[in-house]
Amino acid sequence: MVSRMRTRHFAQAKAEGRKISCLTAYDAPTAAIFDEAGIDLLLVGDSAANVVLGQDSTLSITVEEMMTMATAVARATERAFVVSDLPFGSYEASPAQALETAVRFMKRTGISAVKIEGGVEIAPTIRTLVDAGIPVMAHIGYTPQSEHALGGYVVQGRGEGAAKLRSDALAVQEAGAFSVVLEMVPAGIAGEITRELEIPTVGIGAGNSTDGQILVWTDAFGLTRGRTPRFARRYAEVGDVLLDAARSYLTDVRSGDFPNEDESFRDER
Ligand code: KIV
Repeated sequence: MVSRMRTRHFAQAKAEGRKISCLTAYDAPTAAIFDEAGIDLLLVGDSAANVVLGQDSTLSITVEEMMTMATAVARATERAFVVSDLPFGSYEASPAQALETAVRFMKRTGISAVKIEGGVEIAPTIRTLVDAGIPVMAHIGYTPQSEHALGGYVVQGRGEGAAKLRSDALAVQEAGAFSVVLEMVPAGIAGEITRELEIPTVGIGAGNSTDGQILVWTDAFGLTRGRTPRFARRYAEVGDVLLDAARSYLTDVRSGDFPNEDESFRDER
């Protein structure tokens, strides 16, 4: 029986200079594969809105939809530390609202932590969740749930934005987050913040100096058929494999080749 990763293992990894591997996961079969591969942390990201539910942004995904996916991912994994995003609208109103939502996730899904977006302004909420015994992964830099306020999909923390990024990072650490995602920020400032913080940083489009990396798996392994972000390395073309498989199946069904005798039951009357 493999034992599950805990928040202390991420602190140890940072202290020992071991990089932390993270991927998104949204369902049981892929989560089981990533777990078997040894990925340290699986994030049930609200990117599911885009990559699973076909929506234009992350804003419309619901607590129920996220909880269904989080339950599947937690159930399918043994070792990976499973974190779920709290979706837009389920935590920003007050620390009490966030606590109520996070408690629902922790009771029902089997995940080990929640992720919420925001820096200085969300720090009191992080403190409330942590004080209630719920580990929190913070998320600063480009925060997709604020895409309209940020003026679209733009790199954060450039120029004068660096000071804000640094104070956000310090605020979430001070509030008790066990780790912080840095999304779409210049590599230089991401490295500086990583060296300054005691908690591990996990980068996505944040260069090579963060303590860990995370990618949306469909971008990294080629299930996304459209645009892939520039920072996402493409490790496979799973979409092409599925397309070939579906075409072969179609051909075999149309030709009558599938199913053959071995794939059929014999009549035993
Ligand atoms: O929802 C998500 O997939 C994320 C990652 C981009 C970090 O938040």
